[in-house]
Amino acid sequence: MENKKIQSVKESLEKDLLQNVDMRELNDLKVKYLGKKGLITELNSEIKNVSNDEKKEFGMKVNELRKQFQDYYDSVKNKLDQEELNKRLEKEKIDISLPATKIPMGAPHILEKVIEEVEDVFMSMGYDVVDGPEIEEDKYNFEMLNIPKGHPARDAQDTFYIEGEEILLRSQTSPVQVRTMLKGEGKVPIRMICPGKTYRRDDDDASHSHQFMQIEGLLVDKDISLSDLKGTMDVLFKRLFGKDVETRFRPSYYQFTEPSVEVDITCVNCHGKGCAVCKHTGWVTVVGAGVVHPNVLRMSGYDPDVWSGFAFGFGAERLAMMKYDINDIRTFYNADLRESKVFDREDEE
Ligand code: DAH
Repeated sequence: MENKKIQSVKESLEKDLLQNVDMRELNDLKVKYLGKKGLITELNSEIKNVSNDEKKEFGMKVNELRKQFQDYYDSVKNKLDQEELNKRLEKEKIDISLPATKIPMGAPHILEKVIEEVEDVFMSMGYDVVDGPEIEEDKYNFEMLNIPKGHPARDAQDTFYIEGEEILLRSQTSPVQVRTMLKGEGKVPIRMICPGKTYRRDDDDASHSHQFMQIEGLLVDKDISLSDLKGTMDVLFKRLFGKDVETRFRPSYYQFTEPSVEVDITCVNCHGKGCAVCKHTGWVTVVGAGVVHPNVLRMSGYDPDVWSGFAFGFGAERLAMMKYDINDIRTFYNADLRESKVFDREDEE
């Protein structure tokens, strides 16, 4: 009788275990056999009714069934769990071979880039990079540079006046020379460049802009001559435009230097052969420079009998235009991002 019960559970189990089940069906089977009223659980509670002779064998058989089911349950659950995990992994897979979304890194403005290059050259020669105010006093912008009130040289540098005639937007970076010398109190040698914004009352066109960038340079020491300036200019332009570039001096006139020169370099467009850029001369004028005028040294507290120096000033736009083949100065100020995008820092690696 009892054996019959075992036999029927065994048969039912054998049939059930052949089926292909999902997780829900597997759990239903567990309830069916091992639940509170499960078939194997019930067999277990039958033990007490079995005669003593058969008890042991009956018990062993029930245990066998329980083990059979448990083994089955464990292995199927394992398999189903694994399948579930694989499915999830498949779904969540990230395709790392896809190109990433490009994140714009930002790019330096072309002028900034050129100025940084110039700064690198001068810093490698021991120069400091200094700053000066854009709103300047007439005294520093003109007077102490040997350009007294009423001097005709002021006409070419007409600028914007902030307060009366004394406070103005600087028309050149040269006042920073005066400020730096005053700080040096006539005692220390000076090697500095000063890049910065400058302003003039010019009508904007392809080659004029009411705002532009100058880079000023000043060196004050003992026994400095024009040939030191020549060597310095040579280094600068070879570093910026390549070893083949040559420099030449032409006599000029500035109030704060004596002698004064214009610095030409061989045209980087035609390598000196002659083209439209250099008006078929093979040379392009890039810098105004000279030996610092004794009056300027004296006014700023440097004794011209002890100290001498050279100074130079040039437009950053001019260099950038030559370097990047730009033919309209307004390009730098119209804030068109396409212009600087090509220099996205991402591409610098
Ligand atoms: N400041 C001059 C200008 O704006 C350029 C210049 C010429 C600067 C000669 C200098 C210099 O320092 O020595 O035209």
